[in-house]
Amino acid sequence: MSKRIALIPGDGIGVEVVREAERVLATLVSTHQLPLDWTTFDWGAEKYLREGVTLPEGAIEMLRRDFDAILIGALGDPRVPSNQHARDILLGIRFGLDLYVNQRPVKLLDARLCPLKGVAEEDVNFVIFRENTEGAYAGVGGNFKRDTPDEVAVQEDVNTRMGVERILVYAFEYALRHGGKKVCMSDKANAMPYGHGLWERTFAQVRERYPRIDSRHLYVDTLAMEIIRNPSQFEVIVTCNLFGDILSDLSAALLGGLGAAPSANLNPGCISMFEPVHGSAPEIAGKNLANPMAAILTAGMMLDELGFPEETAHIEKLVAEAIHQGITTPDLGGELGTREVGNWICARL
Ligand code: NAD
Ligand code: IPM
Ligand code: MN
Repeated sequence: MSKRIALIPGDGIGVEVVREAERVLATLVSTHQLPLDWTTFDWGAEKYLREGVTLPEGAIEMLRRDFDAILIGALGDPRVPSNQHARDILLGIRFGLDLYVNQRPVKLLDARLCPLKGVAEEDVNFVIFRENTEGAYAGVGGNFKRDTPDEVAVQEDVNTRMGVERILVYAFEYALRHGGKKVCMSDKANAMPYGHGLWERTFAQVRERYPRIDSRHLYVDTLAMEIIRNPSQFEVIVTCNLFGDILSDLSAALLGGLGAAPSANLNPGCISMFEPVHGSAPEIAGKNLANPMAAILTAGMMLDELGFPEETAHIEKLVAEAIHQGITTPDLGGELGTREVGNWICARL
């Protein structure tokens, strides 16, 4: 039985980088006989502007029923300043499929890409687990007296006991499964005692169940500094939706930038969605400038989840080799285009 993949290239450079990830998958099918097939969906700004449709009706049920994984590029287009379609599609899938784990690995593949002084590859190798279904992203709130001088805007931060506990447990279990010894939980309970107090109280209980893991807590402002000051102290970081979003871009800078940062949206036992951390980068879209490595590494994460860990390792090795040899787009200091980097990786596969 083939594994069925839903491809959603989306907007801007999403289209260009997913094209390269797709070519990597096609190469694996033809040369390694990997049992994969896929269907491409045109969901994104273009469709929204043309038909007024963001996430089509019944999409969530269809994805759950007909597919084993989703590979998505990026959503966001200057012609849709409200970003409505991106929230409907991206957050719609995350929430609709209850993909509560956003796993964002931060692994330095070539020491020359790290902007910090004297940092070796093994010094930057941690994973951020971002809660992915609630927090400030829950969409609870509203505008009162909108567009008047008296306007009131409320955006609630929603934290549930179940939601906090399951992401904390996932992070600890991941650490155990991967021979990890350290978990760092981060929040802002000193300023947000209700919502993030729940994180602290839940963390205090969950950590008791994992005596072999060295677990600690850092407020998110301190954590941001520590990630830059000494990234080698971290193995697993777990935090809320908004902080995880910010910390994952910050941390991506340590491995060379967003062009090489992959991620996965997971719910064990359910279909999962894989996406590069970066957005649609409209200013470089359509110019063959986008780095396809984040999308290709993301496709690698997807293959691991689908049961092909050897191909995951192979892809990561080839991406690292390409970087070592300077086969890169300008964001990593090279002179090649999106397509040419994809060509090189496909040829080596
Ligand atoms: P962005 O990630 O698109 O770009 C940030 C910076 O990184 C830009 O300088 C861009 O050129 C660079 N960059 C990003 N990906 C790159 C790549 N693969 N290769 C080379 N350079 C790359 O973030 P932004 O500019 O804040 O957002 C642009 C749009 O994307 C917005 O509409 C935003 O909402 C959306 N967005 C979507 C996602 C997603 O769909 N997962 C993620 C982030 C942002
Ligand atoms: C990401 C993006 C999204 C997020 C945006 C586009 C809503 O920044 O995947 O990191 O904030 O989750
Ligand atoms: Mn983000």
